Amino acid sequence: MIIFDNAADMRAWCREQHRAGKTIGFVPTMGALHEGHLSLMRAAAGGNDLAVASIFVNPTQFAPHEDFNKYPRTFDQDVAMCASAGVVAVYAPTARTMYAEDYSTFVTVGGVSEGLCGGSRPHFFRGVAAVVTKLFNAVEADHAYFGQKDAQQCAVIKRMVRDLDMAVQIVEMPIVREADGLAMSSRNRYLNAEERARALCLSRSLFAALDLMERGERDAETVKSAVREGMREVKIDYVELVDAETMRPVERVERPVLLAVAALLESARLIDNIKFNPAGHGGSQQ
Ligand code: PAF
Repeated sequence: MIIFDNAADMRAWCREQHRAGKTIGFVPTMGALHEGHLSLMRAAAGGNDLAVASIFVNPTQFAPHEDFNKYPRTFDQDVAMCASAGVVAVYAPTARTMYAEDYSTFVTVGGVSEGLCGGSRPHFFRGVAAVVTKLFNAVEADHAYFGQKDAQQCAVIKRMVRDLDMAVQIVEMPIVREADGLAMSSRNRYLNAEERARALCLSRSLFAALDLMERGERDAETVKSAVREGMREVKIDYVELVDAETMRPVERVERPVLLAVAALLESARLIDNIKFNPAGHGGSQQ
């Protein structure tokens, strides 16, 4: 495994690989890896000649009151997991090499970043868009892989790549769930047994709502009320039904939609979602 800690060396290596005719698949992460990340890495390794991952807990996407300091850092284990999934190089910059002391550039992606997590965490997407831009400038990849678990993040990054003519192609991969339905997340490690049991109401409510839509329910408020009812055990941050591309709320399910939820447990804020397309076989779920 080759580990790079600065953008110039990382970029030089990518350019050398491209000169040799190799394609590169890239998986940006904040570490604390789980099976969801590994599915992205396997896809990157399978769909390209070389797979690269980054591990960087990005301070600019956390507000001062959030969990930046306690975010799990498991670097050695992460590198071993990357290798097991076919990754050949890891980009692991330090905060100091990533951000100059007087760093002052952010990327604002309008529209798609505004509701859902953008509403609850107003600082979040400008930090994500800035760091992903920097990561794309270091890892000059042909394809970059992101998980549907962060559906709004995928929409924001796709929009940014399109609007700023970035050369990389974004590949969105399905959510990976535990056997009991809980969407995999690095933040699941924060949960104690009692919280983890309650957290299951997110996926359970989403799947029940999917069933409702598959059976023909098209009224957004009815679908959202059913989800809110199913999530009584947790503090709801939001339950939203939005257009899957624009992330704008819909009143009726008439085109592909994203049903997205966020909840606050004592030790973690969790998100989950499903996609539904009324046009295909009564709907589809990822
Ligand atoms: O999804 C994540 O882990 C992060 O938001 C990302 C894309 C690596 C940027 O820090």
